[in-house]
Amino acid sequence: MAPSTTSGTSIGIVSGRGGVGKSILAVNLGAVLTKRGDKNIIIDADISNPSIGLHLGLPYSPTGLQDVLLEHKHFRDAILAHPSTGMRVLPSSLKYSRGASLRNLARVVNEVGKAYDFTIVDSPPGITDDVMHILDACDEIVVVTTPDVPGVSSATKIIQLCKENKKRVRGVVVNRCTGAPFELTVREIESMTESSVIVRIPEDRTIPASISMRVPAVYYAPDSPASRKLNEFALSLIQAGPRETERAGVMSRFFAWLRKIFS
Ligand SMILES: Nc1ncnc2c1ncn2[C@@H]1O[C@H](COP(=O)(O)OP(=O)(O)OP(=O)(O)O)[C@@H](O)[C@H]1O
Ligand SMILES: [Mg+2]
Repeated sequence: MAPSTTSGTSIGIVSGRGGVGKSILAVNLGAVLTKRGDKNIIIDADISNPSIGLHLGLPYSPTGLQDVLLEHKHFRDAILAHPSTGMRVLPSSLKYSRGASLRNLARVVNEVGKAYDFTIVDSPPGITDDVMHILDACDEIVVVTTPDVPGVSSATKIIQLCKENKKRVRGVVVNRCTGAPFELTVREIESMTESSVIVRIPEDRTIPASISMRVPAVYYAPDSPASRKLNEFALSLIQAGPRETERAGVMSRFFAWLRKIFS
């Protein structure tokens, strides 16, 4: 595989709160792109609690992102392929690695981006120094939340941080939606975050079932409600050009402004 001279797109998947579905989203985004034949790789940047390898049942490897960050290994020596789909992953090692931090992540993402059209970066939760390095390293950011006030208010903080740092936010993914009347609506979430909702993904038991089978949901149960939405999310992400996304953001801010005036 000859490295290209131009860089692909790097997409950071972040959230204010833990357990909202970032890793599920990263795995299935990679899976949809792999199905389409788009050259992509997932970097598991959750160096303290890596889970992509566990979700996909990748074989234990002594080499991981931590070694690449510390410049002990080249990134190509750490890449693993998912046996049944061929998806490429740069996993974090499960062993504790003293001194590893994401300080050098931008360099790694830049290098990897010369060989892949899409680099998906799975983040740990919260607003920590490591997450700041992820925001810094990626071209664009997707923010994941559940449809509740604590999740959305944490998501709003991250989005504000991105905006302050002139980082492009592609939008918000609302995961684990049940349709219960107490859940926040898309309008409310867009108004709170001042960003557009890309997709709502339902609560769906095929998600934990797919993890137990070590296969991404879009392969395991392609017609399940969550897989359909995950597919829709991936396609909207790669099909909507920057202009369209920016326009969607402007429209969402315009409607939020109108709502404020009339409420
Ligand atoms: N749409 C869904 N329907 C049902 N279960 C889901 C859904 N999305 C995620 N889950 C479950 O939620 C759990 C957490 O998902 P995941 O590991 O992707 O979250 P995370 O945001 O990456 O967590 P962390 O912040 O700890 O890294 C998983 O066990 C998964 O089974
Ligand atoms: Mg995770």
